[in-house]
Amino acid sequence: MATVIDGKAVSAKMREEIAEEVKEFVEKHGRAPSLTVIIVGEDPASQVYVRNKEKACIQTGIRSEIIRLPADTGEEELLCRIDELNGDENVNGILVQLPLPDHIDEKNIICRISPKKDVDAFGYENVGRIMTGEYDFLPCTPAGVMELLRRYGISPAGKECVVLGRSNIVGKPMAMLLMHGNGTVTVCHSKTKDLSSHTKRADILVSAIGRAKFVKADMIKEGAVVIDVGINRDEDGRLCGDVDYEGCFDKAAAITPVPGGVGPMTVTMLLKNTLTAAKKQI
Ligand code: GUN
Repeated sequence: MATVIDGKAVSAKMREEIAEEVKEFVEKHGRAPSLTVIIVGEDPASQVYVRNKEKACIQTGIRSEIIRLPADTGEEELLCRIDELNGDENVNGILVQLPLPDHIDEKNIICRISPKKDVDAFGYENVGRIMTGEYDFLPCTPAGVMELLRRYGISPAGKECVVLGRSNIVGKPMAMLLMHGNGTVTVCHSKTKDLSSHTKRADILVSAIGRAKFVKADMIKEGAVVIDVGINRDEDGRLCGDVDYEGCFDKAAAITPVPGGVGPMTVTMLLKNTLTAAKKQI
């Protein structure tokens, strides 16, 4: 029977710690750290994510502002808005919610955010810093996974770590962080041959492929740590991860549920990055 890695509980504990640090920051500097989120258009999932970020800011005392722009906002206008926020010393963190409408080049937008305020750590400078290990911010989801492993006393050092998925937001930085933690890392993706031969070797398996209940018990090693980054809907419309949680539960040593695993950690790491940004900008 696996240990359940409880992201909700860890996240709640971390938010208390962050709220305490925010309080100290306010006492010292007379203002709260601040995060500005820009959302373009009406994508329903993005609206929910942005609302969750705002609630989390309020919960921890971080000042948050949401700039809602219509779906037909031009790239130039969005770049101008980012320039204004880059120059505003009362704004510590800037996040542009993705995806953006098709007529806007996401790369141009993300890379316009000042690296010091890039709390998603998606811009080229911060991505480069993650490669070399000299970072101030880490992308929130992989950072949340590392924090969960740390708080459950699971070290990647010397372990076989297998990451499913190679996205810029999760898979690639995840592999890098596990490597910084001295894991031996394999990254698998849609073109990988004989996927099970890799997953079965994993001491730590991180799945970020967005396919409901794809990872079955016969694909994992007895005693593996299984981290599920997926947020999907099953055939009955219920929220589920990439991993067949019930099927893998008895075989894994530790496993994250969905919901309540990695998800809550992502927003918490954003709060942490905003606080770090505010401290660095003093
Ligand atoms: N859309 C889905 N996840 C994210 C995220 O972590 N950051 C941003 N900016 N957009 C997202």
